Amino acid sequence: MKIKNSSVKAKTANLKNPSITQRGKFIVQGGQPLAGEIQLAGSKNAATKMLVASLLTEEECVLENFPEIGDTETVKELCRSLGSQINEKGSFLKIKTPKIENVESFALRYRNRIPILTLGPLLARVGEAKVPIVGGDKIGSRPVDFHLKALESLGAVITIEKDYYRATAPYGLHGANIIFAYPSVGATENAVLAAVLAKGKTFIRGAAVEPELIDLIKMLQKMGAIIELGANRQIYISGVEKLSGVHHWVIPDRNEAVSFACLALASGGNILIKDAIQDHLITFLNAVRRCGGNYEVKEEGIRFWRSKELAGLELETDTHPGFMTDWQQPMTIVLTQAQGISVIHETVYEDRFGYTKDLNLMGARITVFSKCLGELPCRFKNRGFPHSAVVDGKTPLKGTKIKVPDLRAGIAHLIAALIAEGESIIEGIEEIDRGYEKIDERLKNLGADILRIKGN
Ligand code: EPU
Repeated sequence: MKIKNSSVKAKTANLKNPSITQRGKFIVQGGQPLAGEIQLAGSKNAATKMLVASLLTEEECVLENFPEIGDTETVKELCRSLGSQINEKGSFLKIKTPKIENVESFALRYRNRIPILTLGPLLARVGEAKVPIVGGDKIGSRPVDFHLKALESLGAVITIEKDYYRATAPYGLHGANIIFAYPSVGATENAVLAAVLAKGKTFIRGAAVEPELIDLIKMLQKMGAIIELGANRQIYISGVEKLSGVHHWVIPDRNEAVSFACLALASGGNILIKDAIQDHLITFLNAVRRCGGNYEVKEEGIRFWRSKELAGLELETDTHPGFMTDWQQPMTIVLTQAQGISVIHETVYEDRFGYTKDLNLMGARITVFSKCLGELPCRFKNRGFPHSAVVDGKTPLKGTKIKVPDLRAGIAHLIAALIAEGESIIEGIEEIDRGYEKIDERLKNLGADILRIKGN
């Protein structure tokens, strides 16, 4: 099929909310306990994939509780460049892609890693795709070998060009047996998105089972896909010929929930997180109790506070249902305020403690080790990666100037600034805006003294 190569540049100029991706800094006067209620936005890691899933049908998809954040702006821009029409009002979004007009999704390669997930839908809809070679970032090398191997077994032929992958499916996509050596979220999503319209049955073993992925599967099921979840990380898919439009409500963002809970615990405040879902946070809630924090699960959400001195604890990050790697950074701030030694073993990404250097400049005592300081099986054992940390608490923090390296490090820095004595200047806040909706406005409602300055 011949695709008209429309101008990506012209279409990407059409950003609804460019301020989200604009550079800027926060000036924070810290030191107060934060208290009140905060409403969760829809999940970034579900909503971005749902936009990609909408490309599988020519019919309209309606998404409610859709977050207004930098990463969804980027993916909307990507979808528009592929041919999608998008209408939105607040957290209500309609997307329709009657025709794929362009198979290139590498224009936005530096903003996030979502373009790689368009491989499956583009191959299914038009048999052709060009996606960027996404490199490593500040948390590890982040290869996509599992994605490519899974798509190849589904019938894709993938070649590496200068800075992108070109994929075709000369005989269409067909069912396959896929075994993942590690339950990668993105690779499982890619395989599912490709398999739902493939001919025949697909059997995925070693799949990721994160709540965001399950929500994506629920959306696909409503669109007409046949997907079964088996025990032990198994997913069975019977390919169908066509998917239809859908109306779906995006799950609340559990990473926002954990960040705000950590803010309550670290600042000695009391925050009701509206729409927080206990099922999505079970391992986190156990960690809160183990370090001496309190929570109460209520109908409208979960309330967090501390009523006694916090104590250090041992933590290991893992795939769901384990303690999530994206919770490690905000939880580390809590542990700087806990009495005694805490030990953290990061088993998902090999290099996710870079942000602790700035925390040490603020007064924390955190030492990073390449040894595995935990018991979980770890792919980074004896490989020299700085993937364990010891936090020696409790230490008061003082305000400083920080440049945010990535999203979750950024929220950790922001929490640190909010509990530190004096003024902090946080630069590179577009990283935080990638995943947290109107964060400054919502924090002000909790009593935070935070000022957004636009520009460099
Ligand atoms: N991996 C491979 N090969 C692959 C794919 C992954 O070796 O082909 C490795 C990665 O290098 C990593 C591990 O597998 O060591 C897990 O990576 P995974 O594929 O599960 O991560 P992802 O899909 O790229 C998503 C979230 C991350 C979150 C992880 C783990 C999105 C957009 N990103 O990334 O979220 O940390 O799953 O749950 O959904 C964030 O929101 O800030 C963020 C980084």
